[in-house]
Amino acid sequence: MSDIQAPPGLAGVVVTDTVLGGVRGDEGFFHYREFSATELASRRTLEDIWYLFQTGELPDSSQSVEFAWRLAEHRGITDETLEIVVAAARLGSGRASLLWIRTAASILAESLGIETWLGRPIEDVADEAERLVAALPTAIAVGWRSQQGLDPIMPNPRLPLATDFLTMLSGVTPSVTAARAFEQYLILTIDHGLNASTFAARAVASTGADVGSSIVAGIGSLSGPLHGGAPSLVLDMLEDIGTIDRIRPWVRKRLASGEPVMGFGHRVYRTDDPRAVMLKGVALEIGGPLVDLAVASEAIIVEELDRHRPGRDLRANVEFYAGVVLHLVGIPTELFPACFAISRSIGWTAHILEQIADNRVIRPKATYVGPPPPVPVP
Ligand SMILES: CC(C)(COP(=O)(O)OP(=O)(O)OC[C@H]1O[C@@H](n2cnc3c(N)ncnc32)[C@H](O)[C@@H]1OP(=O)(O)O)[C@@H](O)C(=O)NCCC(=O)NCCS
Repeated sequence: MSDIQAPPGLAGVVVTDTVLGGVRGDEGFFHYREFSATELASRRTLEDIWYLFQTGELPDSSQSVEFAWRLAEHRGITDETLEIVVAAARLGSGRASLLWIRTAASILAESLGIETWLGRPIEDVADEAERLVAALPTAIAVGWRSQQGLDPIMPNPRLPLATDFLTMLSGVTPSVTAARAFEQYLILTIDHGLNASTFAARAVASTGADVGSSIVAGIGSLSGPLHGGAPSLVLDMLEDIGTIDRIRPWVRKRLASGEPVMGFGHRVYRTDDPRAVMLKGVALEIGGPLVDLAVASEAIIVEELDRHRPGRDLRANVEFYAGVVLHLVGIPTELFPACFAISRSIGWTAHILEQIADNRVIRPKATYVGPPPPVPVP
């Protein structure tokens, strides 16, 4: 086969088939398997959608209860593992949270004895990934609390994952509205095409590496500010704007400086980002001054972006209202990317399992463009 020169960033290059989901940027639509992702988020639980990714079907009520219980049991972490996770979190104090969380995921993988998937039944590999991903929120909550000098709060298997995570962080059971808002954020961010972290997870899995390594690779990829970093910047921006009367001058100054307005524009969507639309609704249900400021900012920023780039139709993306919702449910800003890792690791797992079910090592090529070899070695 002759070589094909791919465009920078592999933009527009299709590298695999998937049955897990897709994004239709022109229509403002994305789906998990054959279901609208936003409809799933409005009608089902996170655990049900995890089941959908894992099995290809939505669970009936008894399957739903059974699966949620199984996941809840996997949330537990042994004291020995906990101690090492806490040590990693303490070492990572003051650094971006995904850096120590990447280490924590590695420790969890080690504690679960996860090994190469080669030559093993796929059900066993799926079980390993499920245990790791289910325990990750506990490791994040315990690690973060230790950084604040707070004692760990152990998971409560009677609670759904979203409620339990918020409880493990703060020690207070969240309101039903806050728990559901957080759950809907998690559902909406499980999967979104072959983004960089999903591709990284698949590429690592393709070598026969254990699922722990793939998930750690996913977290590493997500730790880059160009992938998962915008929600906290959105919150900084809203704080900086401060009041509704300051929005327009703030945006004009920002655009004049050549800096992008965080939480606006998207590589794929050429209309509303459906995740932003839904999270805006979620934020409005909670309400408050931050939501009022965000909604007013969105309207003015869209107007100003239209003057700045006429015809480009730049609108709010998922990260704009994600930042608002995460703040409203009590997530500390430094853990915003960690929440993204909690949900996206469910998507990574499904992609890893899909990759290994029909594997070929991902091995593209590079064109050498340096000085003509061989140059004599001095
Ligand atoms: C997401 C993003 C990187 C997409 O970039 P992209 O694919 O290059 O975007 P487009 O091709 O649609 O950009 C068209 C033009 O609008 C500008 N533009 C896009 N988003 C903008 C933003 N948020 N603020 C200001 N200008 C923006 C681009 O700079 C480009 O201008 P140019 O033609 O002079 O180069 C970009 O919109 C961005 O930086 N947004 C802010 C960061 C963010 O919210 N990231 C999270 C994404 S989920």
